[in-house]
Amino acid sequence: MSQSPSNTAGKGLEGVVALDSRICDIDGTAGRLVYAGYPIDDLARNSTYEDVVHLLWNGQLPSRIEREDLATQLRRTRTIPPSVVDLIDAAPSTASPMAVLRTAVSALGHEDGEVEDASPEANRRKAIRLTARMPTIVASIARRQAGRSPIAPHPELDMASNFLYMLDGQVPGPKAHRIFDACLILHAEHGLNASTFAGRVIAATMADMYGAISGAIAALKGPLHGGANLKVKEMLDDIRSSGQDVETYVLARLARKERIMGFGHRVYKTIDPRATFLREMLADLSDERGDRSWLEMSVTLMNVLKREKNLHPNVDFFSASVYALLGIPGGLFTPIFAMSRVAGWTAHLLEQWDGNRLIRPRAAYVGPADRRIGSATNR
Ligand code: ACO
Repeated sequence: MSQSPSNTAGKGLEGVVALDSRICDIDGTAGRLVYAGYPIDDLARNSTYEDVVHLLWNGQLPSRIEREDLATQLRRTRTIPPSVVDLIDAAPSTASPMAVLRTAVSALGHEDGEVEDASPEANRRKAIRLTARMPTIVASIARRQAGRSPIAPHPELDMASNFLYMLDGQVPGPKAHRIFDACLILHAEHGLNASTFAGRVIAATMADMYGAISGAIAALKGPLHGGANLKVKEMLDDIRSSGQDVETYVLARLARKERIMGFGHRVYKTIDPRATFLREMLADLSDERGDRSWLEMSVTLMNVLKREKNLHPNVDFFSASVYALLGIPGGLFTPIFAMSRVAGWTAHLLEQWDGNRLIRPRAAYVGPADRRIGSATNR
């Protein structure tokens, strides 16, 4: 006889606490996000992406020596194997950059001699390699899809500057560097979101790190999760090219019961604190670039959604305009999210494997009961 779970689960596991974690805390009512005790605003203003990577993996910000050590390891590990370069070259130019990234990350595992070594030391080394190489993969995909040759990683630059450099061969100025570094920090971790949960479920079977990260990338691609930033860009482009008034456009979409991407969140019942910070950066960048059109469109959209649906922007909303002003193509928005979030994903995998137990919930069976195959006429 089968053992039945006691009740029916809430749809989408809303409100379910699935595990204990020391990595990140979110207060959805207060709109507060904290990485290992540090508020996101403090980290975005006063640290670097490399510091945050160290914090997520170790629970502590790095000392000066630890910072230099990690930065050196990340810089030295950026080059991707030729087989992965070939794979990116072979992908059709019409393929989604997220799909190519997912495949390339899986293929990175074929070239990693430690792929099947599940020791904590080997897993940390793999986390460094993945974090260092994902930006190189994303920039290579962008260059290939634009019909250009990839640019080799810069041996001196930090993660943020090196990525922007690999896109167009220009070392970014201080403002673009600072803003992009803060974007990486804001996207690095977010508790047990869909992609992180997917990665932890895979990791808990003792599958390898590359498999778990490929699965997390697959989950992030969806438009209800990280893929929303691309949809926001498409919506803003649509409004610009149609010449429509923002409010008329949004009201028409709401009347058709369409979702407005970049709004709403399962956990935040108020504005996502990352959106607040991104809005500030968008205003700053708009003034520097002398183009306030993205900001004005975004703020109008935000006010209409608040008034009509009491919906607030999430991380994907203002990041789309920030990236657009930085000159980054829309197809790269979600891959950039992934190359930042790999820090949080790998932190969760390390935590999962430290005292692992298979993650295996139950489904409440609600199908028909007590059936029999019966006579041939029923078959
Ligand atoms: N536009 C219009 N209506 C919305 C939106 C939206 N963006 N988000 C939620 N709603 C409405 C729903 O239609 C629903 O209304 P109803 O009760 O009248 O049917 C109500 O709000 C509740 O929506 P749910 O889908 O039940 O909320 P859930 O917690 O499951 O969804 C989600 C959260 C998926 C983020 C949702 O808000 C959404 O689809 N947003 C747009 C996509 C998006 O921006 N995703 C990125 C999230 S952040 C991240 O993952 C990095």
